[in-house]
Amino acid sequence: MDLRIKSFDEYKEKYRQSVKNPEGFWDEIAKTFSWKEPYDKVLEWDFDGPDVKWFLNGKLNITENALDRHLEKRGNKLALIWEPNDPKERPIRYTYRELYEKVCEFANALKAQGIEKGDVVCIYMPMIPELTIAVLACARIGAVHSVVFAGFSAHAVADRVNDAKAKMVITADGLNRGAKQIPLKRVVDEAIENCNCVESVIVYDCLGWSPNMKEGRDHWWHDVVQTMAKECPAEPMDAEDILFILYTSGSTGKPKGVVHTCGGYMVYSAYSFQNVFQYEESDIYWCTADIGWITGHTYIIYGPLVSGATTMMFEGVPTYPDPGRFWQVIDKHGVNQFYTAPTAIRALMAHGEDHVLSYSLDSLKVLGSVGEPINEEAWRWYHIHVGKERCPVVDSWWQTETGGIMISGLGDISPMRPSHAGYPLPGIQPVLLDQEGKEITENGVEGYLCVKFPWPSMLRTTYRDHERCRVTYFSHYKGHYFTGDGAKRDENGMYRIIGRVDDVINVSGHRFGTAEIEEAINSNAAVVESAVVGYPHALKGQGIYAYVVFEKMPEDLETARAEIIETVVEEIGRIAKPEKIQFVSGLPKTRSGKIMRRILRKIAEGEPDKLGDTSTLLDPDVVDEIVNGAQ
Ligand code: WT7
Repeated sequence: MDLRIKSFDEYKEKYRQSVKNPEGFWDEIAKTFSWKEPYDKVLEWDFDGPDVKWFLNGKLNITENALDRHLEKRGNKLALIWEPNDPKERPIRYTYRELYEKVCEFANALKAQGIEKGDVVCIYMPMIPELTIAVLACARIGAVHSVVFAGFSAHAVADRVNDAKAKMVITADGLNRGAKQIPLKRVVDEAIENCNCVESVIVYDCLGWSPNMKEGRDHWWHDVVQTMAKECPAEPMDAEDILFILYTSGSTGKPKGVVHTCGGYMVYSAYSFQNVFQYEESDIYWCTADIGWITGHTYIIYGPLVSGATTMMFEGVPTYPDPGRFWQVIDKHGVNQFYTAPTAIRALMAHGEDHVLSYSLDSLKVLGSVGEPINEEAWRWYHIHVGKERCPVVDSWWQTETGGIMISGLGDISPMRPSHAGYPLPGIQPVLLDQEGKEITENGVEGYLCVKFPWPSMLRTTYRDHERCRVTYFSHYKGHYFTGDGAKRDENGMYRIIGRVDDVINVSGHRFGTAEIEEAINSNAAVVESAVVGYPHALKGQGIYAYVVFEKMPEDLETARAEIIETVVEEIGRIAKPEKIQFVSGLPKTRSGKIMRRILRKIAEGEPDKLGDTSTLLDPDVVDEIVNGAQ
C-alpha cells in the first residue's frame, strides 16, 4: 500500500518507465489495491472519441479500499479529525472502524429510501463529518454523488440537480461560516420547486434550527439512520462505472458535469496523494479546501482514506475568530502536511506576520498550494513564515477534469522553484503546443498546455453530453487533451503555469465562465447586453469586471450596480459577485458582431495604451468612451 517514491533519482527512473511502458507501470500500482475481480486489461484509449477505459472489467468498490481493507491493521487509527468553526467547540475524531460503521449505517439508510446503484444523489452540505459520510455512503452502494458547493444559489443548485436528474438531495438546516450562519434547507426548498426528479430530501440537523419539512419528501438524518445496521455490503462496481459527477464552469454555456469513474480515480487519487505529500503512516494531513470542489473530493476524502491516512476537515474560515486560526489548528492537532490555496495565503499575509509568529508550527513537514498560480511574494511568505524555510512548498497544478495532481513537487524529494509547479508526476505526459498545434520540444519556451497520453483519473465524459466533452477538451488539438491553461517550461524542464487562455476566470481559486456570469447579468430586465472579463486582483488572483449596457443609462449608478450584483447572486451565488461594474453605451465589436474581449481585458487591467489595432471595430468611438469611464 506504500506507493511512495523516495528520491529524485527514483522519480526520474519511474517517470522514464511510465512513459516507456505505461500499462506495465500502472499495472504494478493498481495491483496493490483490493479488487473484487481482477481487471483483464490496463488501458484502451482513443482521444478522438474520446473513449478512454482503465482497468477493463475490473470490479471494485472504492469504499472497500478506503475503509474495509484498513480495519485489520488500522481499525483504531484516526481516519477523520473534524475541527469545528468555533474553536471553543470540541473536535470530532473517528477511527477507521467508526467511520466504516457510520458510512455503512448511512448507506443502509440511503437504500431504505429507495436509492439504488446508478441513481444520482445531490449533496449540498456544510463542512461537517456527515458530508464525508454521505459521499462515501453513496459510493458504498454505487449511487453517483454530485456534491454542490454550499455557496451556490438556489438557481445554481436547481440547474445541477436537473442536469443530473438527481433523485435525492442531502442537506442540512444551515451552516456555520465564521461569525455567520447560512441557511441551506431554505435554498434547497427554493431550488427543488423546479426539480421534478427529486423524490426525497435528507436533512442533517447542524444548527438546531427548525426548517420547513415537507411531509413525505423531507426526512431528518437522525431519523433515517435510527434502525440501520452498521454493516453494509459494498456494491461491486465496474472500474468504468461512474463514481461521481462534479459540475465545473467552462468558457461556454452552463457548468458541465465532469464524470469520474471508479477504478482509475481510486488508483490515481491514492498514488498522487502519497507522492505529492510524502505521507507517512502516523502523519496528520490537512487540506483546507471545501469538499464541494475537486480538491476536497480527491485530497480530503478519497486520496487520504484510500491510503489509510488521517485526514482533517475544517468547518471554518481562515480569519475566524482571528487570522491566526489556521496556525492555531496546526499546533492543536500536530498537522504534518498542510494544503491550502494562494488566495488564503495572500489574505492572511495582509494581516501581518504576528498571527503566524505566535505559533510554533513545529509539526509541519510539507506545505502545499493549489487552485491558481502562486505569486512569488505569497510563495516566499508561506515558505519563510509558515514553513520556517524548513518545509518544501509543493505547488500542485491540476483541474477538476484531471481528477488528481498532474504537475507538482513531491514533498522534499524534488527540486523547487518559487511559482513553479515543477515536474509532471510519473504517468503524466504534458506537452506545450504552439498556435498551430505543433509540439514545442525545447526548454525555455511557452505554449498551450496539453496532455498527450491518458492517465487513470482523467475525466471520461461530461454527464449526458459526450459531444461537449469532445469539443471542449479534445477538438482543439487533435490527439491531445487541452487544459485551457498556458504554461512556460524553464531551462530545466520545470513547468510554470501562467493561467487560463480561454474565457474562464479564476476568482480565489473558484472557476467561472465569462458566459455564465454574462448570462446571469443579462437576466436583469434592464440589461441589453454585457461582457465580463477577469483582471488581476491582489487578494483573489483575478477579479470580475463587468461591462454592462443598459436600455437607458441608469441615473442612480449605485442602485443599478446593486441590482446587477443581486441578479448574479441569485443566478450563481455570492462567490461570483462582480468586483467592478461599468455602465457603457455599447461594447467593442468586430464587423461580424463578435465582442472584442482582448480590448476589454486590457482596459480592465489598466493598460488602455496597449489596445492594439481598433480600426477594424464596428464602432471605434465606443472604445474611447469605455477607456474614459473605466474604474
Ligand atoms: C484551474 C483548474 C485543481 C483544484 C482546484 C482548481 C488553475 C490549479 C494551479 C496551480 C496555477 C492552477 C488552472 C487550472 N490552477 N492549480 N498550482 N498553479 N494554476 O480546480 O476549478 O478545476 O480549476 O485552476 O488555471 O486550469 P478547477
